[in-house]
Amino acid sequence: MKNIHEKVEKNVGLFFLFTVMAISIGGLVEITPLFFQKELAQPVDNLKPYTALQMEGRDIYIRDGCHVCHSQMIRPFRAETERYGHYSVAGEHVWEHPFLWGSKRTGPDLARVGGRYSDDWHRAHLLDPRSVVPESNMPSFKWLAENILDGELTGKKLATFNWLTKNRSHKDENGKAIPLYTQAEIDGAKDAVKGKTEMEALIAYLQSLGHALK
Ligand code: HEC
Repeated sequence: MKNIHEKVEKNVGLFFLFTVMAISIGGLVEITPLFFQKELAQPVDNLKPYTALQMEGRDIYIRDGCHVCHSQMIRPFRAETERYGHYSVAGEHVWEHPFLWGSKRTGPDLARVGGRYSDDWHRAHLLDPRSVVPESNMPSFKWLAENILDGELTGKKLATFNWLTKNRSHKDENGKAIPLYTQAEIDGAKDAVKGKTEMEALIAYLQSLGHALK
């Protein structure tokens, strides 16, 4: 018995193989059942698709790396729910792509930040965080107020989200999938955002977060 053990430990190939096997079994046991749990792909009742402006705001959130310092995932622990509200559930995020859950929290979780502050507070905070939170080490995002959206790609983004979520949308009485956006919304997306600042878009996005389940 001792010799077999020695063989495995001294042979890199064998050791690697057995390690991969052990990890795979653990992973499969945890992950496989999730594929069969229907509620994980069902939107919660009040979930609303992002408006054209919120969608642009979300892209700015990703572009400027907000997700590098902020998570959007409230864990089911008392310390978290007392600070941030109801813990996050899968049904709130079924239309997200990519997910912005994150795990790095230099700043607070933002999963339910919508409605917590006024638009004016967000504007002041994004321009100069220290003006409203003196001890803040969040960087300033001054350019947001200067950059103007042209909306050239907004319609395409909405159409892409229709495609990405086609198996996870609400259903009508006959069980037929209801697309996230109508053709009219896709056609009107450019005019809905054109001329608005990136600041307006980002704040619209932040204010939309977390309302489906309060
Ligand atoms: C370098 C890390 C860092 C980055 C990048 C960053 N933040 Fe922050 N953020 C913080 C810290 C730290 C705080 C807590 C202090 C404060 O309120 O300013 C914070 C606070 C916040 C708050 C207030 C949350 C609350 O519940 O009080 C909001 C909203 C926010 N950030 C939005 C953003 C957005 C939007 C971006 C991207 C444009 C961003 N942050 C980028 C670190 C960061």
